Amino acid sequence: MGSRQSAILERALMISLSTGCQPVRIPQQKIYNNMGKRKRTDGGGATALFKTKAGVIAATLGSAVGLGSIWRFPAEAQQNGGGAFLLIYLGCVLILGIPVMLAETSLGRAGRADAVGSYMKLAPGSRWWLAGGLGVLASYLIISFYMVVAGWTLQYLWDSITGALFAGADGESARLIEQTFHHKMESYIGSDIAPLISTYAMIVLNIGVLMMGVQKGIERASNIMMPLLFVLLLLFCIYALTLPGASEGLVYFFRPDFSRITWGVAANALGQTFFSLSLGIGVLITYASYYPSDTNLTRTATTVSGLTTLVAVMMGMIIFPTVFSFNLDIDQLRGTTLVFVTLPEVFSQMPGGRVWSILFFTLLLVAALTSTISLSEVSILFVQKRFKRSRLSATLIMMCPLFLLSALCSLSFGSLADLKIFGLTIFNFLDTFATNWILPICALCVVIFVGWFIPKGTFRREVTNDGRVATRLYPVVNFIVRWIAPVLILVILFSSILK
Ligand code: PHE
Repeated sequence: MGSRQSAILERALMISLSTGCQPVRIPQQKIYNNMGKRKRTDGGGATALFKTKAGVIAATLGSAVGLGSIWRFPAEAQQNGGGAFLLIYLGCVLILGIPVMLAETSLGRAGRADAVGSYMKLAPGSRWWLAGGLGVLASYLIISFYMVVAGWTLQYLWDSITGALFAGADGESARLIEQTFHHKMESYIGSDIAPLISTYAMIVLNIGVLMMGVQKGIERASNIMMPLLFVLLLLFCIYALTLPGASEGLVYFFRPDFSRITWGVAANALGQTFFSLSLGIGVLITYASYYPSDTNLTRTATTVSGLTTLVAVMMGMIIFPTVFSFNLDIDQLRGTTLVFVTLPEVFSQMPGGRVWSILFFTLLLVAALTSTISLSEVSILFVQKRFKRSRLSATLIMMCPLFLLSALCSLSFGSLADLKIFGLTIFNFLDTFATNWILPICALCVVIFVGWFIPKGTFRREVTNDGRVATRLYPVVNFIVRWIAPVLILVILFSSILK
């Protein structure tokens, strides 16, 4: 049997498994046509495309810019030597981030299907589809805990609007103010009901956007939210840079302390690159399947990587000058405290602080929302295509279980705090397992597949749009994807194992 025929049989088998019928031979083309007929336009998945160039960039950038660049980056920079971390991160984005993004978007656009389907289409009859399946799993696990943190930002936004966030935090000593915010955060996160409500609200918001489909939901929401995000960031940047003593913070952020560069720091910067650019777990395969065929993939990858890095750098230029100017403890920037204690503390001392607080949590919410949308889309398109569901039912099938899974993550700070998996709470277990393990493994699969196993010429064809786009970078990118990226990803994996 030829490879094309075996692919057709395999596809028919998949469909029979999902519908419980006997396998029948259905010509591949016919299956696609039928999928197209279910919903020809937006909701269909099979034929949905982003409408404009700006939409392609906004949606992909929306996925990349999230809690990772806005919150995790400054905290990581602080813990890993300030400027030294920034330098390594920039190197990682340039050397690894852009090529891997190109590899993944090429895979997605050539496959024109969900993460699993793209592998099936490009490597029929092989087991490569398992790599796509792992991506679907990883993205799903990541949404389950990401949604909880996104929910917290929603609550903090609400509390900034009502003023509840600042109640009891004025006129006391700095130490007491900090304790007040600490206590607020701990009692909020550690409670059961309040964070659950905001997590659920986030899930509902996601469903609202996602069920509208690719153009009317994802693209339109990103087109509105991404410019808003940049305007807000710019406002904060201008404010932070004009604070007295801002330069001290800038020096801290930009001056590299090379003595602090270690393998651990480099591995952290690599991990941050993957997480912040949404690499490796099928989000880019899924989104690229919606890219029109004239989208210039190289330009998209460089623009998205560049702007994501810009957001991270701007955040550094906001956080460090502010912390120095307000004489706050720089070691406090770790983890949750940066966003939920340190910044509210700053806002409480700023003139017009409540307005700034509203703006900041809006910024964080927008960033988190566009990222959760992209993470959810991976499994929604998977269900839509593999199980031939309508947009609405695929959205509900995949989003509703989150009401339970995310609830478990949320409760793991409260009533379920003592429930441990390998010594970690549910939230931390999913975070560690998905981000440190499955994500690098999926990314490894992407680069090995695109570098070595994708049908010959496919990668070049996608990067050059069938020869219509001249790119001198292709040989370099191809070399990185084949040789350098796999080795560096293995480094991240081993460093996670050693940790
Ligand atoms: N890039 C997102 C962030 O920085 C997180 C993310 C990871 C989104 C992987 C999609 C896929 O917050």
